Amino acid sequence: MIKAVTGTKDILPSEINRWYYLENIVKEVFTNFNYKEIRTPVFEETSLFARGIGEETDIVSKEMYTFLDRSETSITLKPEMTAAVVRSYIEHSLGTLQPLNKLFYISPMFRQERPQAGRFRQFHQFGAEAIGSTSPLLDAEMIEMSYNIFKRLGLKDLVVKINSLGVPQSREDYKNKLREFLSDKKDKLTEESRKRFDKNILRIFDSKIESDQEIMKDAPLLIDYLDEESKTDFEVVKEYLTKVGIPFEVDSALVRGLDYYTKTTFEVISNKVGSQSALCGGGRYDLLIQELGGKPTPGVGFAAGMERILLACENEKSFTLPDPSIDVYLIRIDKGLESTVAGIASLLRSQKLSVDFDYLSRSTKAQMREANKSNAKYVLFIGGEEYSRGELLLKNMADGQQKTVSKDEINKIISEVKK
Ligand code: HAM
Repeated sequence: MIKAVTGTKDILPSEINRWYYLENIVKEVFTNFNYKEIRTPVFEETSLFARGIGEETDIVSKEMYTFLDRSETSITLKPEMTAAVVRSYIEHSLGTLQPLNKLFYISPMFRQERPQAGRFRQFHQFGAEAIGSTSPLLDAEMIEMSYNIFKRLGLKDLVVKINSLGVPQSREDYKNKLREFLSDKKDKLTEESRKRFDKNILRIFDSKIESDQEIMKDAPLLIDYLDEESKTDFEVVKEYLTKVGIPFEVDSALVRGLDYYTKTTFEVISNKVGSQSALCGGGRYDLLIQELGGKPTPGVGFAAGMERILLACENEKSFTLPDPSIDVYLIRIDKGLESTVAGIASLLRSQKLSVDFDYLSRSTKAQMREANKSNAKYVLFIGGEEYSRGELLLKNMADGQQKTVSKDEINKIISEVKK
């Protein structure tokens, strides 16, 4: 039997309402903040991600789904949206239409990571990017939007972590400090961290290995080496979050796994989903647009993993949805009335009612069971004595009340059901 590829999963009809619920909240919150949706292709030229995210990052060096298409172009299934949104922003000169573009997306992403709870190879993100302003209020707005979405979903057990990575110059100065600090401890680091020492020293903070963490706990902190501008911007972010009542922790070890960040970065962590605990992550990327060939333009954004969020909601039982229902189930009492039933269904459906009937030539009793299973608000009986008198019988399933309606007056059924 052919099965879904490792790390991918089907979203079945029994789960889809939870996805709709999440997507609706996402769209509502982004609309509250006046973000407009952008949709980009599922694949891009590989160089976009290599240049955008950084060659040395785990995503680019180990996780991308990259292949040559039939014209020998190197194509990559998008592992994240920021580079794709920036590509589109530059290509369509969105910056000339308005100075600040506030964009959001909901889209599948692809990373060949080791699958585990909350980690997939095809997963879905929603996210936002604000391109065109250096205002730290936008950094805070990203945190606020993600937090609002999580609150509306009823999630409670959350921690907002924030940090500032400063501008490249202050970060370079700091990296030198870190190199100095680690120079006589390098041999004690794990092999992975020793590699990071040479390639991307900040990522040593990401190590989950205790011996690495023990060494890093006395390391100098980036936050103490920030340039003045990053410092003031970070203060504005903290002040705003306090003002709007969003609790946060400053975590100076929060370095994020993508190279494009400058200044503010953040993650929201759930304590209810196991080791893959970041529900979202983001930050400012003031140099990425020029890096990808656009005019120097600042940007900030975040993205959130939807599978992980729904897992957190399930584990916290943060919301429950009513069972799905339909407006009317049509029950055919006599054989030979199949096309009459289908015709009435068509009329009712054209009036925006959700309607179903039996396609399997089942008995009246089996049809009644099906009506109950589909949670029909009304059942319409077609056939029997009523039908020979030219009438149909409409039953309200909530109170058991029945009424007969002439079969030429379907409008009456429609207004009764819509009442
Ligand atoms: P990221 O931290 O790589 O950032 O991903 C954001 C979120 O996507 C994570 O916090 C997690 O919830 C989810 N996620 C990532 N990988 C997986 C996976 N394999 N399975 C399930 N969920 C996953 C970015 O993608 C940046 N583009 C965020 C950003 C936007 N920064 C600025 N603008």
